Amino acid sequence: MTDFFQLPYGRQYIDEIDIEAVVEVLKSDFLTCGPAVGSFEAGLAKIVQAPHVTACANGTAALHMASMALDLAPGDWVIVPAVTFLATANAVRFVGADVWFADVDPETGLLTQDGLERAYQAGIAAGKEIKAVYSVHLNGQVADPVEIYNFAQQNNIYVVEDASHAIGSTFEMEGGLIQVGSCQTCDMTTFSFHPVKTITMGEGGAVTCKRDALFRKLQLLRNHGMTRSPGEFKINAQAFSEKGEPNPWYYEMHQIGFNYRASDISCALGLSQLSKLETFKSRRSKLATLYDEELEDLAPLLRPVAKVFGCHPVLHLYPVLIDFSELKFDRASLMKALAAQGILTQVHYLPVNRQPYYTNLYGQFELPGANAYYENVLSLPFFPAMTDEQVSIVVRKLKKYLLAG
Ligand SMILES: Cc1ncc(COP(=O)(O)O)c(C=O)c1O
Repeated sequence: MTDFFQLPYGRQYIDEIDIEAVVEVLKSDFLTCGPAVGSFEAGLAKIVQAPHVTACANGTAALHMASMALDLAPGDWVIVPAVTFLATANAVRFVGADVWFADVDPETGLLTQDGLERAYQAGIAAGKEIKAVYSVHLNGQVADPVEIYNFAQQNNIYVVEDASHAIGSTFEMEGGLIQVGSCQTCDMTTFSFHPVKTITMGEGGAVTCKRDALFRKLQLLRNHGMTRSPGEFKINAQAFSEKGEPNPWYYEMHQIGFNYRASDISCALGLSQLSKLETFKSRRSKLATLYDEELEDLAPLLRPVAKVFGCHPVLHLYPVLIDFSELKFDRASLMKALAAQGILTQVHYLPVNRQPYYTNLYGQFELPGANAYYENVLSLPFFPAMTDEQVSIVVRKLKKYLLAG
């Protein structure tokens, strides 16, 4: 039970139906590699309108598999917006490729076509072979997928959309809406279903894609690079009996792969959670509107992160931008004061290029938009079970500190 004294910035919503779905799997024959995996994949495919879905262990595994499926390797460079979780950039490093950090819009934290173009030109001028961009749908808002895709097509680079924050979000384009995950504007989309995300599998993730060849690669990468399909076997002498029948124990490994499978337990939870996505969406939208209205009179000292034109987000977080230069105290003091009252806030994110691992590798990047966003941003408590009254309490406490400060 969440009471007022513990209001986290994000929290899963689990009901009896979720619990029953998991218990049903626990009583069944398959805890993993069973039918719940396909059911979850089909459910996700339907909701995000994806041609292919590969469920996997977590969002980091999804990004790692995406890097491998694109055959990225040492010598290749990938553009990643600086404001994201570590995993987006790390997935590039997992395969020995390098990260060229792009600046973001200081009002939304998102990659823009302009930011992408500047990063691309700077990378090319520095002699780097840029192969891909990993765009990030931060907070649930969508980084303009049409402009990013058009730029990528013109320059012959791949696009992966990290939609860990954005299941259910859509974006307007000529003639309709793009559903995040449908891969109309990218090669692959990755999702995380960690408990703080909009829906959860406990730990879980997925990659969606359109091209059959990428899908087959992802399926292999998820499961040790091995196949049990006789039509794919390469060494007939050990694969088939003298009668030409496939040996019943046989499998073949054609490339390096991982155990990145999602269990049936996680998939059953994921499928049950998917059925609540519409409810989560409307509750999150209602909470965001309430916050927007109640915080209005704190502007310009505090303002919600800017809304992206044409985007219909399912917000994962509710971040605000606070002008701390106008206050006598800093963000850490505000966070501590709020935490003492049970209001647990968080900063999403320190620009990844500023992590010691990346400064050791690449030195400093000049990214004023990312730095400005980071300096001001704070995620407030935001989760479906939060009550209207709890939103008002958070706002009252914030006002008390900010207007006194
Ligand atoms: C933007 C982003 N990308 C990737 C990930 C990694 O997902 P996971 O924690 O499921 O590995 C996260 C999760 O925190 C994320 O927020």
